[in-house]
Amino acid sequence: MSAVRFIPRRFTTVSRSLRFTSSLRGRAGVIRSYAAAAAAEKKNASTPTVKLTAEMYPEIQRDSRFAKLEEEDLAYFRSFLPDHAVVTDDTVGFNIDSMRKYRGQSRLVLKPRSTEDVSKIMKHCGERKLAVVPQGGNTSLVGGSVPVFDEIVISLSAMNTIRSFDDVSGIIVVDAGCILESTDNFLAEHGYIFPLDLGAKGSCHIGGNVATNAGGLRLLRYGSLHGSVLGIEAVTADGTVVNGLGKLRKDNTGYDVKQLFIGSEGTLGVITGVSVLCPKRSSVVNVAFFGLDSYEKVQQAFVRAKSELGEILSAFEFMDKQSQVQVAKYSERQKPLDEQHNFYVLVETSGSDAAHDGEKLQNYLERLMESDLIEDGVVAQDETQIKSIWTWREGIPESLGRAGGVYKYDVSIPLDELYQLVDDTRELLIKAGYEIGTESSNIVDVVGYGHLGDGNLHLNVAIKNYDKKIEHTLEPWVYEWIQKRQGSISAEHGIGFAKKNYLGYSKDPSMIKVMKEIKQLFDPNGILNPYKYI
Ligand code: FAD
Ligand code: MLT
Ligand code: ZN
Repeated sequence: MSAVRFIPRRFTTVSRSLRFTSSLRGRAGVIRSYAAAAAAEKKNASTPTVKLTAEMYPEIQRDSRFAKLEEEDLAYFRSFLPDHAVVTDDTVGFNIDSMRKYRGQSRLVLKPRSTEDVSKIMKHCGERKLAVVPQGGNTSLVGGSVPVFDEIVISLSAMNTIRSFDDVSGIIVVDAGCILESTDNFLAEHGYIFPLDLGAKGSCHIGGNVATNAGGLRLLRYGSLHGSVLGIEAVTADGTVVNGLGKLRKDNTGYDVKQLFIGSEGTLGVITGVSVLCPKRSSVVNVAFFGLDSYEKVQQAFVRAKSELGEILSAFEFMDKQSQVQVAKYSERQKPLDEQHNFYVLVETSGSDAAHDGEKLQNYLERLMESDLIEDGVVAQDETQIKSIWTWREGIPESLGRAGGVYKYDVSIPLDELYQLVDDTRELLIKAGYEIGTESSNIVDVVGYGHLGDGNLHLNVAIKNYDKKIEHTLEPWVYEWIQKRQGSISAEHGIGFAKKNYLGYSKDPSMIKVMKEIKQLFDPNGILNPYKYI
C-alpha cells in the first residue's frame, strides 16, 4: 500500500490522483500505552504526591458500622489463598486512581483465583462487616475503583481465563479479570471483534468494563454493553453466587437481573464471569482524519457521514484544537495534519469490500470538500497509519494528565449545544480570575473532545495541581449547566466517588429511591464499594 493521502487544502474536486505523502508511515508508537505511562509515573519521584481522599474531602467520614481488619481475618484469607494473593505490603498502586486524584488507605489487597474464592471472601466480609472495593484494571475516571478509607481491595487480576468461545455464534465467556485488549486479540485470531474499544484497553478488565457500562470508541456501531452482554456471574455481599451466565440472545423468562450489574460500579456484587456476543471483525477498515474550522461544520460532517457512509460507519470522534495541542506536546509522532484547525474529526469505516468502502469514503470526503466543510485531511493507507491516527485520538486522556491532573466531565447533551459547554467553562474560569495556559497558571487548558456519534462530550480542565477552589468553581456549575439542557452528568465513565453528590442533576428522585432500594436488597450492610454511587 502507498502512504497517507493528503487532501490538499481548498481542493474543490478531489481527483483520484491526489498528492501522496509518507508522513505517518512506519513511525513506531510513541504515546506509550496507558499502563506503561502509569508505571513510569509511579517511579518518577518528581510527580506530585497524591493526597489522601480522606484529607481532601474531610466532610466524608469513615462509616463506623464497618469492622476494622484484624489478624484473624488475614489468617482466614491465607487459609485458602496463596501468600502472593494476600497482599499487605505493596498496596500503593491499588489505592491511587488513574487520574492521581484519589488515594485510599487500604492495607489489604486480595487476588482471588476463582469464583469460589470470591464467594468465600464475600461471605467472610459480609459476616464481619468488612467493606470491600472490587477492582479491575484501576482505570476508572471517577474514583470508583480505589478505596476511600480502609476498604479491602478485591482485585480480579488473577481471574483472567477465557472460559469458552463459540466461533459460530461469536459468543465468548470470560473471567471478569480478562484484559480487554488481550480478549480482543484472541477474538481477532478467530475473525471476531470485542464490541467495545477504548484507550485504556491495555489495562482495563472486561469485568470493569461491564461494571462501568463503558461506552468507548465504537458504541455508534456496536451499541452499549446492555445489548451485547448476554450473561453475568456475580457474587453478592453475603457470598451468594448469582449464576446468570446465559449464552442466549433471546430469553424472556422473568426479570433481566444481569442488567442491574451492568453499570453498577461494584456496588451490587463482584462480577466474576461475563458472556458477550461478539460481532465478526470487519476485513476492511478505513480511517480518515480531517480539520474543520467550526463546531457547526463538525455537526454537518456527522449528519453527512450517517447518510453517505451508512452501514460502514464505525466511529465518528471529534477533538478540539486545544486537545490536539496537548497530545502533540508529548508525542514524538508526526502530526496527521501539519496546519492547525479549530476542530478535528476521526472517521472510521468498517466493511468487507475494499473497493466499495474506499470509494464511499472518498466520495464522502470529496463532497465535504466541495461543500467547504473540511479544510484539510488525510486517509490512512495501511494498518500502521490507522493505528497512528487513532493514537492522536486515544492519546488525549493520558496527555491531559501529564501536567498533574484533570477535572473531568463526561456529559451527554443535545448535539447542537455540546461544544458550548467548553467555551462557557473557559469563560467561567477566566471570569473567576484564573489564568489559563501560562507558565505560572495552575490551569493548563480547557479542552473538549469525544464521541460525537453518541452525543457524548468529554470536557476536561487540565491542571498542574488539584485545587479545591478550582473544583468549587466548576462544580456544581457544570452539573447545573447540564441539568438545564436535560443532559446526563455521566455519559459513560459512571458516578463513582467524583459524582455521587450530583446524581440528582440527572436522575429524578423517584429513580434514586428505587436505586437505593435495589442497593439495600443486594447489599443490606452497604459493604460493597461504600462512599460512592448513591
Ligand atoms: P476499574 O477502574 O478497576 O473499576 C471501575 C469500577 O468498576 C469501580 O467502581 C470498580 O469497583 C468496579 N469494578 C471493577 N471490576 C469489577 C468487577 N469485577 N465486579 C464488580 N465491580 C467491578 N470509559 C469509557 O466508557 N469510554 C472510554 O472511551 C474510556 N476511555 C478511557 C481511556 C483511558 C486512558 C482511561 C484511563 C479510562 C477510560 N475510560 C473510558 C474509563 C473506563 O471506565 C475504564 O477504562 C474501564 O471501563 C474500567 O475498567 P477497569 O477494569 O479499569 O475497572
Ligand atoms: C475517551 O473517550 O478518551 C475516554 O472516555 C477517556 C476520557 O474521557 O478521558
Ligand atoms: Zn470516552
